[in-house]
Amino acid sequence: MNKKQKILIVDDEAINIRLLIEALSDIPNYQIIATKDPYDGLKKAKDANNRPDIILLDIQMPELNGYEFCSEIKKNKDTEEIPIIFITAMQDAESEAFGLEQGAVDYITKPFTPQVVKARVKSQLDLKNFRDQLNSKVIQKTEALHRSQEDLELERIVRGQLEEKVQRGKKMEAIGTMTSKLAHDFNNILLPINCYTEMAMMSIEDKGIKDSLQQVLIGVNRAKDLIEQVRSMGRSNTITEQNITRNFINLENVVDEVKILLSPMLPQNIKIEMKLEAKSLIMGNTTQLHQVIMNLAKNAVHAMEESGGVLTFYLNDEYVSLETGKAMGLESGDYIHLKIEDTGSGIKEKLMDKIFDPFFTTKSKDKGTGLGLSIVHGIIQSHKGDIFVKSKIGVGTIFDIFIPSIKKSEQEGI
Ligand SMILES: Nc1ncnc2c1ncn2[C@@H]1O[C@H](COP(=O)(O)OP(=O)(O)OP(=O)(O)O)[C@@H](O)[C@H]1O
Ligand SMILES: [Mg+2]
Repeated sequence: MNKKQKILIVDDEAINIRLLIEALSDIPNYQIIATKDPYDGLKKAKDANNRPDIILLDIQMPELNGYEFCSEIKKNKDTEEIPIIFITAMQDAESEAFGLEQGAVDYITKPFTPQVVKARVKSQLDLKNFRDQLNSKVIQKTEALHRSQEDLELERIVRGQLEEKVQRGKKMEAIGTMTSKLAHDFNNILLPINCYTEMAMMSIEDKGIKDSLQQVLIGVNRAKDLIEQVRSMGRSNTITEQNITRNFINLENVVDEVKILLSPMLPQNIKIEMKLEAKSLIMGNTTQLHQVIMNLAKNAVHAMEESGGVLTFYLNDEYVSLETGKAMGLESGDYIHLKIEDTGSGIKEKLMDKIFDPFFTTKSKDKGTGLGLSIVHGIIQSHKGDIFVKSKIGVGTIFDIFIPSIKKSEQEGI
């Protein structure tokens, strides 16, 4: 035991205090605090930094007797565990019983022999010490149990998220393959419609019929746009290293390009802000990443169409530690973190796990196909990154994208 145990003596007679100190003189590793004033004794017992391990207490004191002192100690949660030994001249069995009822652990009558005082105090101190050790072990074990329960819960959540991610990936891949084939066949059907309509328009003078054929061409062009979206989703979900060109990209340039394209279309009440502070590059496909940022930006603009607001692009270098990576389902390492934040309408909680599904849209037919985010998701996955979304109705939405970055040393080695 390293810590010195503290013995508090409360007795209104100095001679008794001196005798007790002498009796206890050869107990190892202890410190005595003594007072003649019971109120001072109470103060000392309650002092959290100097709390005694045992109290030797006189019963007959003029202002506050030992029983009252004892009940004060026992009704306070911080001091109730301190063992109290009564030291008194009263020898009748009744007062002894009363003292023990008040919560004292032992009773020594005056005149006492030093050996008896020493033996009783020592055995109570040993008991207290043992109890303290036991309590701290129980606390440690309980904390460890809590921690392992929390770890288990965290692991369960992370596993759930990872399984969901794998499922989503598989679903997207299957849809990607199917839509690519469908888009290809559909394009073959559109081609002759387009050609024959154009030929018919050239050989016809009637303005009414020409206008009708023009409408057919508009419809064909809409269908072509849709097919192009479907195809790019198919490509983003079935991309392999062999069929896509990848270069070192400074994502800042891509964000700048999107801003230039977007700005002229923005209504007055929507502003764009840029906080681009990344230094690293990524290995990727510029066209695809352009599409990612454009799709997210268009969604953000649409969400702010009525209310107006601010669209902010953040770009930062970020190191993902093992622990953070585990919680996010990412490998530990260096990443570029692209954050796209809007102050628009927000996304309803119950729609959050649907927004990445292909063809999921809350927009009217002519405003959205519901393919934007599924394309984004596929492209980010093919760049070995990930995308996360946070949203609050009426406040706005944040998309966080993490893509592995190339360290300076690796860039220089090329
Ligand atoms: N920034 C955002 N704020 C609010 N809702 C959003 C935001 N981004 C996406 N959403 C919601 O997610 C849905 C799916 O988005 P997604 O981009 O996949 O399709 P879309 O925008 O509806 O159509 P498309 O992009 O194909 O034109 C949207 O319809 C919208 O409800
Ligand atoms: Mg969209």
